[in-house]
Amino acid sequence: MTDLVLQPPVLVFGGPYSNLRALLALRQRAEDLDIPPSHCICTGDVVAYCAEPEDTAAAIRDWGCHVIAGNCEEQLADASDTCACGFEEGSECDRLAKGWYPFANARMSPASRAWMAALPKTLTCTIGGWSVRVVHGGVDVINTFIFASERAALAAELERSGADIVIAGHAGVPFIERIDGRVWFNPGVIGMPANDGTPDVWYGLIRLEDDDLLIATRRLAYDHHGAAAAMRRSGHANGYARTLVTGLWPSLDVFPPAERAATGGRLRPRTLRLPIRTAARAAG
Ligand SMILES: [Fe+2]
Repeated sequence: MTDLVLQPPVLVFGGPYSNLRALLALRQRAEDLDIPPSHCICTGDVVAYCAEPEDTAAAIRDWGCHVIAGNCEEQLADASDTCACGFEEGSECDRLAKGWYPFANARMSPASRAWMAALPKTLTCTIGGWSVRVVHGGVDVINTFIFASERAALAAELERSGADIVIAGHAGVPFIERIDGRVWFNPGVIGMPANDGTPDVWYGLIRLEDDDLLIATRRLAYDHHGAAAAMRRSGHANGYARTLVTGLWPSLDVFPPAERAATGGRLRPRTLRLPIRTAARAAG
């Protein structure tokens, strides 16, 4: 599938969302785990809801991890008028986007826009002998929301991917689903909590244990009060500023019924164990 072979551990994450404190906390976590930038992958939406768009874009470039483009990067690269998040017209998310997107768009440097324009749309690699495709939303459509409860959509996306494992973002909540031998892994986002009633954010770890490949979701605590205060100082005393503290999203519009019903229920980290495939075992 690709010549890029990543030896675990690999750290994956979505949506920094202009939340500089969360991004720096995650970088520190990667360093604590001795995971180099070449083994860290971001699924896009570096810039969105929070207070520090340019500093966050600069910080992730400074870190040097892999980044693919989210819909926000596609739009900001061209200084487009909207975020193209896929929010329903007139919804609360759509209303909030009319505040945070122009705020971010007005603050992006030419260097950041040029960096965003050059980002790849996808990344393919092999981890533990499994072929992996990294996408932002859906396999072909960047702003498709894919959730764990939508089994038919997941199966179709996995079939379309041509990979054993898809790592995806955009949807904002972490989950791992195995369907017909393939795996959809959304490690969650680090820029906003996961609507589970806690201020923590989420990332993913892929690591080896004995002859198995372990795919896991992980919780990350960080200075969420500082992130919320920065939003208020920047004039964004909005629903997302409250979300950073309460852990509850300002709107459930994008959720299917099952994810909506899970609102406020504390998420538990999950781990999926897969066998290392023969070639990787021989190489390792
Ligand atoms: Fe997105």
